[in-house]
Amino acid sequence: MRRFDGMWRAVADVGRDRRGGYARDAWSAADLELREWFRQEAGLRDLAVREDRNGNLWAWWGDPGSRPGVVTGSHLDSVRQGGAFDGPLGVVSAFAAIDALRERGVRPGRPLGVACFTDEEGARFGVPCVGSRLLTGVLDPARACGLTDDEGDTLADVLRAAGRSPQALGRDEETLRHVGVFVELHVEQGKGLVDEDAAVGVASAIRPHGRWRFDFRGRADHAGTTLLADRDDPMLPFARTVLLAREAAERHGVVATVGKVRVEPGSANAIPARVSAWLDARGPEESAVRALVAELTGAAGAEVECESWTPVVDFDAALRDRLAGALGGVPVLPTGAGHDAGVLASAGVPSAMVFVRNPTGISHSPEEYAEPGDCHAGVAALARVLEELCD
Ligand code: GLV
Ligand code: MN
Ligand code: MN
Repeated sequence: MRRFDGMWRAVADVGRDRRGGYARDAWSAADLELREWFRQEAGLRDLAVREDRNGNLWAWWGDPGSRPGVVTGSHLDSVRQGGAFDGPLGVVSAFAAIDALRERGVRPGRPLGVACFTDEEGARFGVPCVGSRLLTGVLDPARACGLTDDEGDTLADVLRAAGRSPQALGRDEETLRHVGVFVELHVEQGKGLVDEDAAVGVASAIRPHGRWRFDFRGRADHAGTTLLADRDDPMLPFARTVLLAREAAERHGVVATVGKVRVEPGSANAIPARVSAWLDARGPEESAVRALVAELTGAAGAEVECESWTPVVDFDAALRDRLAGALGGVPVLPTGAGHDAGVLASAGVPSAMVFVRNPTGISHSPEEYAEPGDCHAGVAALARVLEELCD
């Protein structure tokens, strides 16, 4: 797995901060460098690279215009202070799997593609899986153009600065026609494979999940001279809401997280005028997630806006079983993490996922990890799966 190891080293330092975490926001300098790396790796393999209308990259072995292809890949952006594996493992493994097939002399009977989806994490603009949601028409292009980052730049501004055309965004029938089946390899974001004592597994489902923004408004004033009785401090209902989210999540059998907060003006010596907090809620049952959000909305005294919602995804059972069988009966397990494969599956593209064991289960953190031997097993599994699907 010399080639896998070389590619892994090549991307290891891109966007890494001093604490060892990654900052690979969509369309940042790190993201652009990784996109260039993708083009180079594709070029080294004589794969034809195309960027679609929504900024997703595709590298083709064979002509997908002749017949819908078998596509694998993932994303190269990260959450803030994220780990090395979430996303890049799937892209690096995709190129390495093609190398493995070629070394074995396999000539695929269908076009084979490597995809890199844009802005999977939504770290910058708030909405996850922007590239695949635009591609499939789930995200309205006008809404996408108006998404704003923490600096006040819209996605349209950022695309223009990167030399792309915001007017081009939207459902892309031609690109979708090229994708006969999509398989995303991903580091597991839990310990299911550790419990099963298996290096790789196959996904059964993605639990329903969403993000909501709670805007608590108050009145800015002096922290030293304003009597407690005279304050309108939005930090207090915000704090109550965070505690209620935890308590209600336990009652409803779901998970709820407030991982991002913006305080305005954000001075230690001023009562805030506004606190914006992002709730991420997920669970096995959509109704339970909805009940949690309704309860918090009723109690918070805030303006609440749903920024994204992803219904449950049950991956194509026949495809899932075919993959698990081709891999010798590996474990089949669900996940609470969102993926472009889920977006494509919901849009009717036959899709599947291969998971690689994560020894601690930790993800969205610099501690995210997979052993080199398990990564290599993932490449071998992906090559086997691609060979099976191209047959
Ligand atoms: C993406 O990784 C998500 O599940 O938020
Ligand atoms: Mn992620
Ligand atoms: Mn991911």
